[in-house]
Amino acid sequence: MAPSVVFLLLGLLGSASSLPPPRISFLNSAERPLVLFSHPNVHNTTTLLLSNDGSTLYVGARDALLSLDVSQSDVINLKKKVDWRPSEEEMTSCSDKGKDAEVDCPNFVRVLQPLNSTHLYACGSYAYSPHDAYIDTESFSMINQRDGAKGRCPFSPSRGTPPSPSVNVNSSPRPRPTSEEQNRRFLDTSRGRSDVSQDVSVSLLEEPSFVSSALDPSDRKLYFFFSEVGKEFSFVDQLLISRVAQVCKDDMGGQRTLQKKWTSFAKAPLLCRSAKQLPFNVLQDVFTLQPLEGSMDSDTLFYGVFTSQWSLGPESAVCVFRLQDMRTAFAGRYRTFDTQTHQWSPMLDKRSYLGKCGLDNVSDSVLAEVKKSFLTSNSIKPDGLGPIVVSSEYRYSRVAVMRTQAANNKHYTVLFLLTESGFIHKVVLFDGGSQVVEEIQVFTQPQLVKSVVLSTSKGVLYVGTSEGITAVPVARCSIYRSCSQCVLARDPLCGWSRTTRACTGLQEGDHDDMAQDLEHANVEEQCQGQTEPGRDREISVHLNEAVQLPCLKPSNVATLSWTSPRIKDHTEKLFIQSADSVLSFFATADTFGTYHCEAEEGGYKEVIVSYDVRQVAPPRAMSPIPDTESHPPIGRDESYEDIVTNASERSTTRASAEPEDIITSKAGDFTTFVKEVDPDKDSTLKTDSEDEKADAPTSIHDVQFRKEQPDDLQTLTKEKSYHTELVVVSLLLTTCICILIFGGLHMWRHRKLGLKTNVLESPGDDSRINQSMESVPSLSSPEDPELKVVE
Ligand SMILES: *[C@@H]1O[C@H](CO)[C@@H](O)[C@H](O)[C@H]1NC(C)=O
Ligand SMILES: *[C@@H]1O[C@H](CO)[C@@H](O)[C@H](O)[C@H]1NC(C)=O
Ligand SMILES: *[C@@H]1O[C@H](CO)[C@@H](O)[C@H](O)[C@H]1NC(C)=O
Ligand SMILES: *[C@@H]1O[C@H](CO)[C@@H](O)[C@H](O)[C@H]1NC(C)=O
Repeated sequence: MAPSVVFLLLGLLGSASSLPPPRISFLNSAERPLVLFSHPNVHNTTTLLLSNDGSTLYVGARDALLSLDVSQSDVINLKKKVDWRPSEEEMTSCSDKGKDAEVDCPNFVRVLQPLNSTHLYACGSYAYSPHDAYIDTESFSMINQRDGAKGRCPFSPSRGTPPSPSVNVNSSPRPRPTSEEQNRRFLDTSRGRSDVSQDVSVSLLEEPSFVSSALDPSDRKLYFFFSEVGKEFSFVDQLLISRVAQVCKDDMGGQRTLQKKWTSFAKAPLLCRSAKQLPFNVLQDVFTLQPLEGSMDSDTLFYGVFTSQWSLGPESAVCVFRLQDMRTAFAGRYRTFDTQTHQWSPMLDKRSYLGKCGLDNVSDSVLAEVKKSFLTSNSIKPDGLGPIVVSSEYRYSRVAVMRTQAANNKHYTVLFLLTESGFIHKVVLFDGGSQVVEEIQVFTQPQLVKSVVLSTSKGVLYVGTSEGITAVPVARCSIYRSCSQCVLARDPLCGWSRTTRACTGLQEGDHDDMAQDLEHANVEEQCQGQTEPGRDREISVHLNEAVQLPCLKPSNVATLSWTSPRIKDHTEKLFIQSADSVLSFFATADTFGTYHCEAEEGGYKEVIVSYDVRQVAPPRAMSPIPDTESHPPIGRDESYEDIVTNASERSTTRASAEPEDIITSKAGDFTTFVKEVDPDKDSTLKTDSEDEKADAPTSIHDVQFRKEQPDDLQTLTKEKSYHTELVVVSLLLTTCICILIFGGLHMWRHRKLGLKTNVLESPGDDSRINQSMESVPSLSSPEDPELKVVE
């Protein structure tokens, strides 16, 4: 029955409203520079710890510990490196256990924590025999390296990191342990050590996988976050449950019962699910966000990244838990483990001592109760009762969070979510939902182990991977070049300074001077008098030359449309808009004129670029009127060579003069339409852009265009032939011959390549550039309408 329950529920997963796509993407972009630290002799720099002042980054790597100077924003310098590698014998004995000497046996430093004001605590897998050590931060030297860190460090280099702050259960409960000893007591318990489970007859933890830990200073408690097998749901096999567990820092164990064991251990399920959905039950990471100054400790927030055990694709969610709700759960009702039936059953009445600190000298009967009643009855529900972020496209694995004050003095929360595929998604939480303000690529190869550390004071996010450490500035406002783009970005860290007329970091200016509207991105209101009309770009082309006008999308969510007095109902079919929004057409009397590329985002429209397409001035010396009747056979045309070279030179020189601007080309290079918006990428925009399509070529028109092309051109040019001068006709003729030959050559080449395609059969396919190009030679094939006109 168990599996069927799961499968029945399976259908419910994954229909929650998902995060919209990132507004702007930076893939290894010079516009959004990152600082990378890597060292030829240092690998697997995956454990990071930032010093309190934010100027030093401590790094646990493979066989080494590093201290990095991160006080400058544009460079990371190595201050000191301490080697910490197993000896030859230790390596040999590791290999003898059947472990891979290269992959498993090095010392992967997996725990790095402050121990006290002068020392760090480090722990590494050390040839499958975990070792730990103290590090003097002043001299960055290792003292007191020891064996026997089992339980505080994973043996395997890639297993989940144990919780921090590491706590050792070995320290004697009396006399009162020092704070470091208390810290270290924690961990062995959490690894489910046998001496713990023997005494308790039910294990405190079931195959846990640790994620993070946090301190509750006012409540003298430590919390740690993990996923484990949920034994309370015995009807489903291997059901994973995300949890938070607590222990009191001054727990000294019982006097007889629970001697040297925790009397304050308790755990509670963390629930992260949308309404009528299967829960996201596997915890990946937790970030602790301290409350605002002046707020109570109970307002501390825990941001958890969750995935689902049942996901088929990349899928994840973020839920926020309040410290207050955790305290309430641990002070509430508990379940008790029945050793006979091996079931967890709810206790009917509330026992006030469960989950409390200071049970050291209570009676044995109370401790006997404590021993088997450490699971709370109630789950801890997230703030707002559901996830704040759900993604059906990305599997997030790490999270860092900062709070920032916007120009309106309101506080906004910014999440930095690391995807499995190596992108940082900067997500801002708005009243009306979450937005991915930007995405930044930080690595390309999948990473077994990775970590993120945020320096709020420096405004830098550090990402540690096997390949090195990447410093990602939390914002780079100068990427937004206009007031409208700065406002549309909805980045609480960026605002448009009306006096300096630049998009800058908010801390750099007076908030009243800043144009920013995070909730509504109302550009008209914010950017009054800040917009400068762009000039038309002039383009001179020859008659019947193919013209391509590029237009770059200012953001991934903008939709582009072309407007022009030339794009009228009856001429619409002359224009083609490609997937990358290049507008293509032939230069004719009907198409010379101005063109505007307009972007629409969030209801705001603005012209991105304008072109003025003109005919090149006709040659001064009029050539003699050609005899249209004695049209020379193609193969024997003497002027053929000249025309071709001239034609090709013309397009290349122009292209190199303005490389990213205008592409004029021969008819054979025409790329056809695809669609304005890629429906797979942003389905949300589809409806918004419907009304925009009135003045822009749509996919339907494009299809018609290809079907009706010959007829259209025929009528068009027929009309023209009655009115144009003979000189133009002669020019036209030579150009036609040129096109004709090129088309022939082009077709011949394609036939040779064996490309056999038909565009009309697959009009909806975005990815077939080759196919689309194949359709073009038909325009200049021997049945070219232009030729008929001349005859
Ligand atoms: C910090 O801990 C180390 C290691 O136990 C110890 O040697 C050192 O004296 C401690 N320093 C302080 C200031 O407590
Ligand atoms: C528990 O110990 C404290 C001192 O540590 C003492 O004051 C208190 O009376 C003891 N309570 C019991 C029930 O023994
Ligand atoms: C260590 O780094 C190498 C690449 O340098 C990578 O293949 C390996 O998976 C990493 N191991 C761990 C445990 O991170
Ligand atoms: C281009 O054509 C003109 C005649 O129209 C000729 O004089 C000139 O040499 C040609 N240019 C090249 C590069 O072939």
